[in-house]
Amino acid sequence: MFIIALMGAVAANLQYVQNLQVPSYLGNWHEVASSPIVHWTFERNGYCVRASYGLQADGNISVTNIMRKGSPTGQVETITGSAFAPNPNTPAQLKVQLDGTPQANYWVVAVGPIINGSYQWALVSEPSKTFMWVLARNPTEYAKLYEKDVKALVKELGFTNFVNKYVERSWEGCTPYN
Ligand SMILES: *[C@@H]1O[C@H](CO)[C@@H](O)[C@H](O)[C@H]1NC(C)=O
Ligand SMILES: *[C@@H]1O[C@H](CO)[C@@H](O)[C@H](O)[C@H]1NC(C)=O
Repeated sequence: MFIIALMGAVAANLQYVQNLQVPSYLGNWHEVASSPIVHWTFERNGYCVRASYGLQADGNISVTNIMRKGSPTGQVETITGSAFAPNPNTPAQLKVQLDGTPQANYWVVAVGPIINGSYQWALVSEPSKTFMWVLARNPTEYAKLYEKDVKALVKELGFTNFVNKYVERSWEGCTPYN
């Protein structure tokens, strides 16, 4: 299948998307894969992790992460925050601040095609290449159309050790969010 991975410049050994179209990045995202350390830390016991991004009046991006605790039907846990690009020329190099946590790097490393105005998948990490997420608009379509290529890309970029490798996050049995 076709990956329109808009490859970015190499900085600190990790590429990022050049000219990220922020409006196409907004909306709901399903976590379809992530690195083990994500689930050893702030997504501990998390299932059905969904991120929602919006545009704030000040130009920053609003962030709402929602997940279920312990099982795909577990209690809903939500955390909010915001993100912004310190350099407006590199909108894929974001800093994110979730309420009650330190500010962290958030780089959009690669994205899929824009369909109906929205990127269909996104690979997110940070310069140390430890924390890694793969987000998709639709987990079923992702598995069908994009997963194979994204997995290969993630591997090629060096996400291969026991801390940062690609681990699938299933949406099987997830109780839908509102
Ligand atoms: C965006 O967020 C940053 C960091 O929290 C903050 O300093 C800035 O004032 C916010 N607004 C704009 C327009 O950058
Ligand atoms: C795009 O929009 C069309 C028309 O509403 C819809 O049938 C299709 O499923 C959408 N595709 C995606 C990937 O969102």
